[in-house]
Amino acid sequence: MPRNPILEEKMNVFTSVAALRAELAKVDAPGIGFVPTMGALHAGHRSLVERARQENTTVVVSVFVNPTQFNDPNDLRHYPRTPEADARLLEEAGADYVLMPSAEEIYPEPDTRQFDFGQIDKVMEGATRPGHFNGVAQVVSRLFDIVKPARAYFGEKDFQQIAVIRAMIAQLRLPIEIVECPIVRDKDGLALSSRNQLLDTAHRAAAPHIYATLRAAVERSHSLSPAELETWVIAQIELNPLLKTIYYHSVDATSLQKVADWSSPRIQGCIAVQAGSVRLIDNIRIR
Ligand code: PAF
Repeated sequence: MPRNPILEEKMNVFTSVAALRAELAKVDAPGIGFVPTMGALHAGHRSLVERARQENTTVVVSVFVNPTQFNDPNDLRHYPRTPEADARLLEEAGADYVLMPSAEEIYPEPDTRQFDFGQIDKVMEGATRPGHFNGVAQVVSRLFDIVKPARAYFGEKDFQQIAVIRAMIAQLRLPIEIVECPIVRDKDGLALSSRNQLLDTAHRAAAPHIYATLRAAVERSHSLSPAELETWVIAQIELNPLLKTIYYHSVDATSLQKVADWSSPRIQGCIAVQAGSVRLIDNIRIR
């Protein structure tokens, strides 16, 4: 990325990995909290940074739209990018260091690593976005290696992503605590997402139906089997002609595999919905 004078006026915004590493070498490593993001920041990201601020002496945030986790080049092209507004929000939220690198900074060489997380990354987002979680593991492991945080903060909206990152740190034996933070929603229930700003007016008005359906699904789960609930959720979502269900699964919260009954100790209802050109995900605790 060419140097951006507006951003670099802010003393804590780095585009160079080497410069950030040099700064972080001076701080107390056990006090580093890290929030990786792809930018286009909103109140959900702010909540992660504020939580990190409370629990750490140094807060590092990365803003990097990672090309290796996009299986659709069109999606990568249209992903929202708002670096100046992001830098302002991060300053207000109390970040100490912000990394806004180019792709060449993160991947001086192409990353050819192939991770295997068993069944965790083969379902839901993994099944419908081939290569997505391999790209997430590539970039997050690379960012962890740069920042070397003691704690890293992730939002529960990306429920499956958290499971994949836990599997990755176990495989790579990284001494990093993963802190899961609750989903932040708009007043009408829509889970905050950088992609929401890509919704047109009609699809934005339709989108709260997703969370309303998930809440109703919790009630329905008392009278339906998981398979029946899946059919019910899909039909319910599609009562709104602007929404198309990509998947709905009631999964064991640890294995992420579909449950056959409601006996698992924690069960999460996970959904992906196509709203026009925008793909939205959400989830809710069923049990
Ligand atoms: O959740 C995201 O925004 C991204 O997947 C992450 C973790 C920053 C990796 O690019």
